[in-house]
Amino acid sequence: MRLKRDHHCGQLTEDLRDRIVCINGWVNARRDLGGISFVDVRDRYGIIQVRFGAELPESLLKEVKHLNNEDVVAVRGRIAVRPSDSVNPKIPTGTIELLAEDFALLNKAKPTPFEINKRQTGSEDLRLKYRYLDLRTAELQRNMQIRHHTAQVVRRFLSDKDFMEIETPVLMKSTPEGARDYLVPSRINPGKFYALPQSPQQYKQLLMVAGYDRYFQIVKCFRDEDLRADRQPEFTQIDCEMSFVDEEDVRSIMEVMIAEVFRKVIGVTIPLPLPVLSFHEAMERYGSDKPDLRFDMEICKLDELAAQTDFSVFKTALEQGGVVRALTIPDAADFSRKTMDELTEQVKKYGAKGLAYVKVDKNGLQSGIAKFIPAALVPGLLQHCKAKAGDLICFAADEWETALTSLGALRLMMAKHFGLINKDEYKAVWVTDFPLFEKDPESGRLMARHHPFTSPKTEDLDKLESDPMAVKARAYDMALNGYEIGGGSIRIHNRDLQSRMFKALGIGPEEAQEKFGFLMNAFEYGAPPHGGIAFGFDRLIMVLCGEDSIREVIAFPKTTTAQSPMDGAPSEVDPKQLDELHIRLK
Ligand code: AMO
Ligand code: AMP
Repeated sequence: MRLKRDHHCGQLTEDLRDRIVCINGWVNARRDLGGISFVDVRDRYGIIQVRFGAELPESLLKEVKHLNNEDVVAVRGRIAVRPSDSVNPKIPTGTIELLAEDFALLNKAKPTPFEINKRQTGSEDLRLKYRYLDLRTAELQRNMQIRHHTAQVVRRFLSDKDFMEIETPVLMKSTPEGARDYLVPSRINPGKFYALPQSPQQYKQLLMVAGYDRYFQIVKCFRDEDLRADRQPEFTQIDCEMSFVDEEDVRSIMEVMIAEVFRKVIGVTIPLPLPVLSFHEAMERYGSDKPDLRFDMEICKLDELAAQTDFSVFKTALEQGGVVRALTIPDAADFSRKTMDELTEQVKKYGAKGLAYVKVDKNGLQSGIAKFIPAALVPGLLQHCKAKAGDLICFAADEWETALTSLGALRLMMAKHFGLINKDEYKAVWVTDFPLFEKDPESGRLMARHHPFTSPKTEDLDKLESDPMAVKARAYDMALNGYEIGGGSIRIHNRDLQSRMFKALGIGPEEAQEKFGFLMNAFEYGAPPHGGIAFGFDRLIMVLCGEDSIREVIAFPKTTTAQSPMDGAPSEVDPKQLDELHIRLK
């Protein structure tokens, strides 16, 4: 290749003045001024202004005048300090330019479907179709760099702490864990399927049985579930497991790792130890098991006061064993009827039956359900809800989790609406003492809240059969700015307890042996007590990058319908391929 580069664009500084250097890169912009052309050339490391003028042969100058954005070029020239009136303080190389002496066009580019320097000129679909162009943008280059750096910090940290990185299979046995599996048909075993791992959970436990003591893996996981901004069908975990540990051991080492990532990657100090909230407290105060602690606006308990009102909605909820909770929204008394109807529709998505409210003014309560609240109760209510004139108090009367989740969602919407969230703040918190089970809303069957390998709390063991919903788990999540970025637990390491757990989940001994026999058998050969955690790597990077979607931090993400507009996956396959796999389509 002619004009091979010897410097990166971003590497050029005033110290190199008068030196002859050669750069390769993409045309970022071109301006012609009479006989002179200024071309900004870009590579991964930065941008440099190249001045094409009298130093260049006439024939090459002509060629330069036809350059378009994104053409690939090579330039050799002399570094010169710019005249003071043409310094560009916006770029690191803004005090210098390259006076071109030789030039070659390495490749032409068609006009791009959106501007590389202004991503917003393209819709997200268009940008996903041309992802390789989107990846050229400064935003995505920065995000990919942060992702790379974080992986390096994590690997270094864990390796220094004696964690071994061990790869686990991607083709594994289908053992439903929560989400749906992605299945892979086996050609040489007709009628049989592998599953892609939802996580390496069982393998990492087997590695503990095998004596590896501390394991980690930065690993792809696959879940066929409904997608959202913070969920992808394939995503990456920082997966860890440790032997001979309890909850505090896992949490204390992992919070140091997260703090180190923030310090080294974005220069932010996370004070340690992290606060710890029980699931119950997180729900009661913030209406979420992944609370955003960057702002206050706490939910208040209102059962006693509500029972003394004349409002049938409150009374009915309490009679049915439900609760009444309230959220005071400061300075929102001027919300219109229309806004209140919209908010009501929003909370209904979380299962709430409605959203009762009162507006506070200097004379007391106005509008909404004010007429049902006797005057004598008003001072107490205002004090309890920390409400003042100009505020709006919203009420949820429902089953405990529904009431709190609805107000929790409202709390988040209002914080965004009123701009209460400081984007430069990072608040991490451990959430602990989760219930071991939850009920499947449709079938009413018990399901593991985390996964079936999580150990019940020792003091709750005798309730596993008699009162399973009261059993707490030895599980912990890390929440960061309202996202669940990690979750883990101390595991069951004993065959009998694991069998009791499966039984509670409605999985009989035969089914348990068939699906999880390999793990249960392993427990009989000297399984150490063990526990661990997995962080959602993409979610962590999303927060580090200040993005709202994990699609912005994954090189080649899928859409919310699990498609890739760029290569057209998933796609139909050749009937011959299906035939080889012994598959007939319905
Ligand atoms: P869990 O299912 O909680 O635990 O997953 C751990 C973390 O992975 C992230 N995560 C996701 N990120 C992007 N897209 C998804 N679809 C997605 N699903 C989960 C979350 C979550 O906190 N084996 C256990 C871990 C353990 O017990 O050690 C597990 O997978 O940030
Ligand atoms: P209704 O008596 O059904 O017309 O409801 C009066 C007000 O109470 C409306 O603002 C409803 O949105 C609200 N509401 C109804 N059910 C509930 C509930 N379970 N919790 C809180 N507010 C409710």
